[in-house]
Amino acid sequence: MARLYDSRKRIVVTGGAGFLGSHLIDRLLADGHEVLCVDNLFTGTKRNIEHLSGQPLFEFMRHDVTFPLYVEADEIYNLACPASPIHYQHDPVQTTKTSVHGAINMLGLAKRLKCRILQASTSEVYGDPEVHPQREDYWGKVNPIGVRSCYDEGKRCAETLFFDYHRQNGLEIKVARIFNTYGPRMHPADGRVVSNFIVQALKNEPITIYGDGSQTRSFCYVDDLIDGLVKLMDSPADFIGPVNIGNPNEFTIRELAEKVIALTGSKGGLVMEPLPQDDPRQRRPDITLARDRLGWAPKTQLDEGLKATIGYFRSTLAQPSRRRAPAMRAGAAPVSLVPFSAR
Ligand SMILES: NC(=O)c1ccc[n+]([C@@H]2O[C@H](COP(=O)([O-])OP(=O)(O)OC[C@H]3O[C@@H](n4cnc5c(N)ncnc54)[C@H](O)[C@@H]3O)[C@@H](O)[C@H]2O)c1
Repeated sequence: MARLYDSRKRIVVTGGAGFLGSHLIDRLLADGHEVLCVDNLFTGTKRNIEHLSGQPLFEFMRHDVTFPLYVEADEIYNLACPASPIHYQHDPVQTTKTSVHGAINMLGLAKRLKCRILQASTSEVYGDPEVHPQREDYWGKVNPIGVRSCYDEGKRCAETLFFDYHRQNGLEIKVARIFNTYGPRMHPADGRVVSNFIVQALKNEPITIYGDGSQTRSFCYVDDLIDGLVKLMDSPADFIGPVNIGNPNEFTIRELAEKVIALTGSKGGLVMEPLPQDDPRQRRPDITLARDRLGWAPKTQLDEGLKATIGYFRSTLAQPSRRRAPAMRAGAAPVSLVPFSAR
């Protein structure tokens, strides 16, 4: 979309080389805005944004959000944070720092620029919930000392910081609680259920189900999710959230595995493993607030989204040397050791 200079915004997307961030950037550029992608390439890859190189309205900056950032912008989307358990548990102290120091640094930037800022929060703030589906006024049941706490409590603290900057400094904030999202550009080795199942199925390996497979999840297709984030950012200033963005259709993990097998024609079958610690039994968003205040609801059916995601992984697996798991160093700044050209 061509935009006049005065309606074009300069938008910072932290975590822009990741799965969700790269789709968000595609959408913002398609809407005619100028985008600065800020990412330390911990779990993101240049491959997710390489199709944008040469675009005059796109810029990439390699930067860790745990350090202050001095740039000019009209809006900030704060997505930087490893999102899958394998990645966020690799260096849990750095995960908490990314959520908490990252939020402080980005909120400080928004305060200086007097600009709107959106936080990518998560359904993990509800922990192992006692109410179903989860509404935004439920405070959650989170273990503060478990292996998932670096992510869950980090994100909860980031929400606190957003609301305190709003109350204390009048900052225009938006907080989205994102539920399980899937789609092209998910990392193939991040251990998330959709990518795991698809990669195993495409290799004709057994699909690994943790527990008996009766635990449920809801899966939101990435295009729907991005639409929700943009609608939230563009919503009136008095609507700040937190708001659930996710798909309320619930499936058991076994049902998901069976769908993936049917759509890929895998011959690998299923294998059962014990449930990991603190794995929630059930997670489903109540999206009444998003429907009422944003006019938003997901449109993509699971089969349709899975077909697109399977197509992506089929082509990615056909070029194995181009897509590797990020090289992560415990205790050190989690900058990838894999050269750009190989990622
Ligand atoms: N995908 C989901 O289902 C989901 C669900 C709930 C919340 N979220 C949230 O959405 C955001 C994006 O998730 P995603 O699925 O795209 O994950 P992702 O791992 O693909 O993307 C995260 C990005 O942040 C970058 N990053 C990590 N630490 C950083 C740091 N210190 N400084 C700068 N960049 C850093 C990574 O390199 C990566 O590009 C995260 O904040 C995540 O918590 C995602």
